[in-house]
Amino acid sequence: MLKLESVTKTFQLDENTTITPVNGVSLDVESGDMVIVVGRSGSGKTTLLNLAAGLVKPTSGRVTVNDRELSGMNDRELSRMRSQDIGFIFQFPSLLAALTILENVSLPSIFTPIAAMNHHRERAAELLGMVGLSDKMNVHPAQLSAGEQKRVVIARSLINNPGLVLADEPTSDLDQYTEAQIMDMICSINATGVTFLVVTHNRKLLPLAGAAYEMENGILKPVQAE
Ligand SMILES: Nc1ncnc2c1ncn2[C@@H]1O[C@H](COP(=O)(O)OP(=O)(O)OP(=O)(O)O)[C@@H](O)[C@H]1O
Ligand SMILES: [Mg+2]
Repeated sequence: MLKLESVTKTFQLDENTTITPVNGVSLDVESGDMVIVVGRSGSGKTTLLNLAAGLVKPTSGRVTVNDRELSGMNDRELSRMRSQDIGFIFQFPSLLAALTILENVSLPSIFTPIAAMNHHRERAAELLGMVGLSDKMNVHPAQLSAGEQKRVVIARSLINNPGLVLADEPTSDLDQYTEAQIMDMICSINATGVTFLVVTHNRKLLPLAGAAYEMENGILKPVQAE
């Protein structure tokens, strides 16, 4: 489903400084997997997800999604792939303040050709029910707690029924109870066949992984079950 082959990303910060947050990473995510990558702040986790989504282009190596290499796609094809095949749970919730929760969750679907707006709203309402926010559909993001906003972002990532969800720190800044609740939710979505690649600094999530890796200074290594 997602394959990274010897992927390296180097940023040139100034004339004399380069940084390589992802260094020769190979990773195979199969359909239905729950892959968790842990790593400290700055170890390259977000860059890894951005490479997987084609938001950042590799300096070298190959990224393949559903057997299509991203470097062979033009911007239009990349956008279509991102909106239809991949759900993204961003590290920072990024909800639009002027829209209601229901509108925020529906938003990515307006770029897809499928059914009418009513259908999208119904699906958004269903997803908000799944994350326990049926009663907050018509409020605005500022009226939600941090954990509730995370749940909205999870619902939004699923609106176009993606096969693969890339989740960046889905449990950061949450209390233990809400953290467990969100991970339960992600595991139950995974059980319906949606593939997950989760990156986090939180090692407590490792037991939930089907396959677990650690990112250190841009290098990815498998972790044994703890
Ligand atoms: N567009 C960019 N230009 C220059 N440097 C970048 C860019 N994106 C990321 N970096 C650098 O790459 C390194 C890794 O960043 P990244 O965001 O991938 O880390 P992370 O593991 O997600 O960290 P955190 O846990 O704090 O979110 C950092 O030193 C960062 O400054
Ligand atoms: Mg990050």
